[in-house]
Amino acid sequence: MHLFLYLFLLLLISVSIPVSLSANFSTLSITRVHNETLVCALVLRSASSNTSDLICTHFPSGETINYSSEGGYGGGRSIQYSALATADDFLCGITTPAQGKSSMIWWSFADDEDPFNNKRVYWGPLLAISAGDSHVCGLINGSALKCWRWQEFPDDISFKTIAVGGEFVCGITTCGMIKCFGNETDVLMKEPEGNFTTLAAGSHHACAVSASGNLTCWGSGAPKMDHVPDDLVALSLGTNITCILASNGTVYCWGNRATPPELVAREAFVSIEVKGDSVCGVLMKNYSVICWGSKNFENNSLVFEQVLPGMCAPEMSCPCNSSIPGTGTICGNDGHVICKPCTISLSSKVNVPVPSASPPPQNHSTTGGNNNRIRLVVITIGIAGTLLAASIVMVGLVFYKIVINKEQRRFDLARIDPTGQQPNLVRPPSLLRRNGLVSAEFTFRALHRATDSFAEGNKIGSGGFGTVYWGVLPDGCQAAIKRAHHKRRRHTENAFLSELALLSRVNHKHLVGLLGFCDDRGERILVVEYMPNGTLYDHLHRLPPSDSSPLFTSWTARLKIALDAARGIEYLHSYAVPGIIHRDIKSSNILLDSQWTAKVSDFGLSMARTAGTGASAASAGTVGYMDPEYYRLQELTEKSDVYSFGVVLLEIITGFKAVFKTGEDEEPCHVAEYVMPILSSGDIARLIDQRVPMTDTREEVAIEKVLKMAAQCVRSRGRVRPTMREVVMELEWVLGLCGGDEDEMVEVVLEVEDRGSTVSSMSAFDME
Ligand SMILES: *[C@@H]1O[C@H](CO)[C@@H](O)[C@H](O)[C@H]1NC(C)=O
Ligand SMILES: *[C@@H]1O[C@H](CO)[C@@H](O)[C@H](O)[C@H]1NC(C)=O
Ligand SMILES: *[C@@H]1O[C@H](CO)[C@@H](O)[C@H](O)[C@H]1NC(C)=O
Ligand SMILES: *[C@@H]1O[C@H](CO)[C@@H](O)[C@H](O)[C@H]1NC(C)=O
Ligand SMILES: *[C@@H]1O[C@H](CO)[C@@H](O)[C@H](O)[C@H]1NC(C)=O
Ligand SMILES: *[C@@H]1O[C@H](CO)[C@@H](O)[C@H](O)[C@H]1NC(C)=O
Ligand SMILES: *[C@@H]1O[C@H](CO)[C@@H](O)[C@H](O)[C@H]1NC(C)=O
Ligand SMILES: *[C@@H]1O[C@H](CO)[C@@H](O)[C@H](O)[C@H]1NC(C)=O
Ligand SMILES: *[C@@H]1O[C@H](CO)[C@@H](O)[C@H](O)[C@H]1NC(C)=O
Ligand SMILES: *[C@@H]1O[C@H](CO)[C@@H](O)[C@H](O)[C@H]1NC(C)=O
Ligand SMILES: *[C@@H]1O[C@H](CO)[C@@H](O)[C@H](O)[C@H]1NC(C)=O
Ligand SMILES: *[C@@H]1O[C@H](CO)[C@@H](O)[C@H](O)[C@H]1NC(C)=O
Repeated sequence: MHLFLYLFLLLLISVSIPVSLSANFSTLSITRVHNETLVCALVLRSASSNTSDLICTHFPSGETINYSSEGGYGGGRSIQYSALATADDFLCGITTPAQGKSSMIWWSFADDEDPFNNKRVYWGPLLAISAGDSHVCGLINGSALKCWRWQEFPDDISFKTIAVGGEFVCGITTCGMIKCFGNETDVLMKEPEGNFTTLAAGSHHACAVSASGNLTCWGSGAPKMDHVPDDLVALSLGTNITCILASNGTVYCWGNRATPPELVAREAFVSIEVKGDSVCGVLMKNYSVICWGSKNFENNSLVFEQVLPGMCAPEMSCPCNSSIPGTGTICGNDGHVICKPCTISLSSKVNVPVPSASPPPQNHSTTGGNNNRIRLVVITIGIAGTLLAASIVMVGLVFYKIVINKEQRRFDLARIDPTGQQPNLVRPPSLLRRNGLVSAEFTFRALHRATDSFAEGNKIGSGGFGTVYWGVLPDGCQAAIKRAHHKRRRHTENAFLSELALLSRVNHKHLVGLLGFCDDRGERILVVEYMPNGTLYDHLHRLPPSDSSPLFTSWTARLKIALDAARGIEYLHSYAVPGIIHRDIKSSNILLDSQWTAKVSDFGLSMARTAGTGASAASAGTVGYMDPEYYRLQELTEKSDVYSFGVVLLEIITGFKAVFKTGEDEEPCHVAEYVMPILSSGDIARLIDQRVPMTDTREEVAIEKVLKMAAQCVRSRGRVRPTMREVVMELEWVLGLCGGDEDEMVEVVLEVEDRGSTVSSMSAFDME
């Protein structure tokens, strides 16, 4: 009992990773109040001061108001603002975040409201803010759209970024799709298709840049652009005006009177802001604000002498690892800087592939169930049996709820029902958040819609846990939706709990990520990343060899897949805290994404590694991959995963299944038993999958090394098997040997250097 409570506690600890926010906030804002133009900024008190005041200047009257000196919210205390936004009739100041939460202070310019009677309209985590002509919206709770004093918009879409225009708001979903809402017929329903990274909105038009560098504008007032620069760092739109800030600081504008005036045409800018008929920019050399466009600036283009040119943020959080030189001082000399926005290359030559929303071409298995694999669960009496009984009682007892601590992004164990009355085990969180990504709780209806009513045609696999469907979530992301069989069997429940808890706390390039789950109407559904290229098993053993599959065109590709998977397992063993033992490594649990990057999946059997020596547990796994020592001793260690991975390596090299028949009437043979004698006889060529062309002798040497390592992984004594870290290092080295691409080589070298002390252990596998 004790053990399981411990496990659950450990399972719910998560790591926090800083998220970059700076470029999603502006320190300069323009709006119209009646017939005047209002420009607001965070004005520095002096060149080296780390203190700024929120000041607005009316044009053409020149009247200036210092909002930092006014009373209202904060009771006369001088509040430090870090960003602002304005629209018709109001100004919003965003306070410097404290423990991840910011306040949003609202001043109304409406005639019937006291202009200095400000209100706090929001307090909480705010990831972006955008103001249009008359509305302001933000991203809260990681990725949910929230607009103030406007209508409600769908709350089940996760956005990366948003832009508010005239009477509409557009966003880029976490899958790169553009979705717009509101009243602007020229913009709505005309969203371009593709995978987008950057977005801006004006009064009646919007512009976006795709991942491939295609700049597209739509709506009325979208410009005909010629002489577009090669790259950009910012995009800002007004009424019939479109401006681009190139990465060297030059501003390019299209529209009436929008071209920068002679005075600053050759100057470099740090940021730009366009609204209505006005364009303002912050000069790089002296942080002065210069405005043009509107006639209101006719006699006065220098608006502020020195402003805070952007939001201060921790240096390590800068999205492109670079900051504007010299901003450390104005951010307070405490490690905060103003990040340089990322450079986006524009190329009008690249074609944007439009993702189709039709089911995937091939029906592949995701959990390995239709491979007719027997899943063997051995329950031994004695210690293991007792533990299992304990676990059943415990599972009944533990009624837990994961509560998100928003600032620290940790999962806490909030409630344990001591009465044990609760048969309905899980009340999972309404929103699981990890590293700034939201894992949403989906309603059954949403998933029903996403999978076309769980249509047979959307089925991509089935297994012990249930059936896996392909679907498109409301934000346009494709997902694999794993629906448990209706009957709530205990092992289904355990697998669901275990997988949910583990996936919530791991986040690694080589592990299939959790997007959300559903615990609605008695359903148990996990929503995970969709892996378009299916399982390694299918490519090796089920699908006919094809030229489009890198698994049949190059050994480097196969070894790369082995390395990817090994890195995922290494992460589970060595970097997850506490370590995780997967317990069901097999080729059908290694999935391939669209780039043929391999990721480890199916954590239904995984367990946290407890302190001390091997944990005991009923052995479980799949025939052919299960560590014989674990089976015998019931002692669970990482080395059991190493064994299973060794079997996968043998499959990759030989092309044989884990258990296969050598002839019609032969007894089934285990790949390790088949390989060993041949390997020791030195007849290695006989073992290598002939379906893959061998390019040169270096490859042959590499494959021989991998075979030898695989043989060490499947040794019967766990102690003498290598660790996953050693396996990763060997594979990195071997891949370098067959001339993997250059990036890979650099990565290998760096990682080996980083791991100085363990380098010597590599020699264990080295040939002479
Ligand atoms: C905006 O914030 C998101 C996090 O919500 C971050 O990933 C992204 O890089 C930011 N955008 C820019 C342009 O910095
Ligand atoms: C702007 O409107 C106000 C009244 O609302 C008027 O007093 C003022 O003269 C106008 N200013 C200009 C520049 O038109
Ligand atoms: C704005 O008000 C603050 C607080 O009263 C004051 O310290 C600051 O000097 C003022 N700034 C300007 C530019 O007047
Ligand atoms: C954000 O989270 C809070 C608390 O978890 C919740 O009350 C609120 O409804 C959420 N807002 C959105 C837009 O999801
Ligand atoms: C759209 O226009 C209608 C009628 O003009 C208005 O009631 C509604 O609030 C507008 N919606 C938005 C999002 O502006
Ligand atoms: C969109 O592009 C980004 C950046 O290039 C890439 O990481 C992402 O995988 C792409 N998304 C889709 C759905 O293609
Ligand atoms: C913007 O352009 C449209 C035509 O595309 C025109 O009807 C409208 O008057 C223009 N608006 C402004 C403020 O120039
Ligand atoms: C940026 O590059 C463009 C073209 O390459 C050049 O015309 C312009 O002068 C450069 N701007 C600055 C500020 O160096
Ligand atoms: C700019 O100055 C000229 C001459 O002093 C004046 O006629 C004009 O009205 C001014 N423009 C504005 C927008 O104040
Ligand atoms: C900053 O530089 C611009 C352009 O050279 C100049 O017009 C402006 O007066 C300068 N600002 C200050 C405060 O000197
Ligand atoms: C400005 O810097 C001083 C000393 O470097 C520090 O005490 C003060 O808190 C800082 N103020 C702000 C608003 O960061
Ligand atoms: C850029 O995107 C637009 C809109 O999606 C598309 O019509 C156009 O063909 C694309 N251009 C190129 C060169 O890919």
